[in-house]
Amino acid sequence: MAVQTRVVSIFFIQLVLLAVSGLNRANGAGLRTGYYDESCPDAETIALKTIRKAISKDVTLAAALLRLHFHDCFVRGCEASVLLDAAEEGDAEKDASPNFSLRGYDVIDDVKSAIEKSCPGVVSCADILALAARDAVRLTGGSFWKAETGRRDGRISLSKEADENLPSSNFNIAQLKQNFASKGLTKKDLAVLSGAHTIGVASCFVITDRLYNFTGRSDTDPALDPTFASELKKKCKPGGGGPFLELDQGSSTISDAHFYKAVRQNRGLLTTDAALLNDHVTRAYVNRQSTSAAAGATFGRDFGESMVKMGEIGVLTGNEGEIRKRCAFVN
Ligand code: HEM
Repeated sequence: MAVQTRVVSIFFIQLVLLAVSGLNRANGAGLRTGYYDESCPDAETIALKTIRKAISKDVTLAAALLRLHFHDCFVRGCEASVLLDAAEEGDAEKDASPNFSLRGYDVIDDVKSAIEKSCPGVVSCADILALAARDAVRLTGGSFWKAETGRRDGRISLSKEADENLPSSNFNIAQLKQNFASKGLTKKDLAVLSGAHTIGVASCFVITDRLYNFTGRSDTDPALDPTFASELKKKCKPGGGGPFLELDQGSSTISDAHFYKAVRQNRGLLTTDAALLNDHVTRAYVNRQSTSAAAGATFGRDFGESMVKMGEIGVLTGNEGEIRKRCAFVN
């Protein structure tokens, strides 16, 4: 009996420790602003300079960089697993279908090489992703926030985990809320972070069902403004072929609150953007950001806050993981 009690209490202690370490993971303990102030004081300046150069040549890279950080953080946490090449062919996160259209890997590599020249082996690829996302937003006219750093890089990247963890473009609002909640993010974070779609593009493929086969009866999503739907049908073929489309029509290279106006007018491109109107918290946020005179400022502030929170998901800190020498390979 005594042995049983001891086994039970050891099990209980282990459970508590597991829960506490899980919480630490989730709340970004070990991250802080200015983490490299002593060890690599120019890290953020070098990153900004390199990213500015890339974006000045091709403004669409800003969206690509912002999306990379999101796709990193939602799979195994923000530990740069999205950047790793497959150990076995086709096996890494970047090989998973939701990641086929990720871009901007070269820019991250350029930032890493430039920083390595100043301070070798100090700055993680995971932090570079967070800094790149932050700088992408400010360089496209969006807000600036102080980015937390101190992340370390993971050593595992599995395509099936990307499939399991990234929200699908067909998710309804309940699935979106559930997916964000599983990462410690609220409904407000969902509404705010969806505003990342103020920049960037999507392929016709991701809206084919919305246009041509919404409920399996060759119908169009009734939540889509009919004029907008006809415009889109002219561009996108039923099989998914067609050009890339602006996520925020007419304003896809500027980080602003215009996206919410489009969503409110049923002109949000993705099913998941339109779905923000189907929950009272996310709908209220869309309405506020599309009508308030202070929309730009409040969206900018909110976006910075939610990005910092997203950047804390499942981070590795202290002695965990490693500082990769090259972002596509473990050391
Ligand atoms: C709420 C759930 C989300 C879903 C379902 C979703 C889905 C998508 C899809 C389907 C695309 C187009 C991809 C393609 O056509 O290949 C896209 C693009 C993009 N997403 Fe999201 N996304 C979500 C949230 C986010 C978040 C939280 C961020 C960043 C914080 C983000 C940033 C972007 C950006 C910037 C692009 C444009 C990329 C480019 O132009 O290369 N998304 N997203």
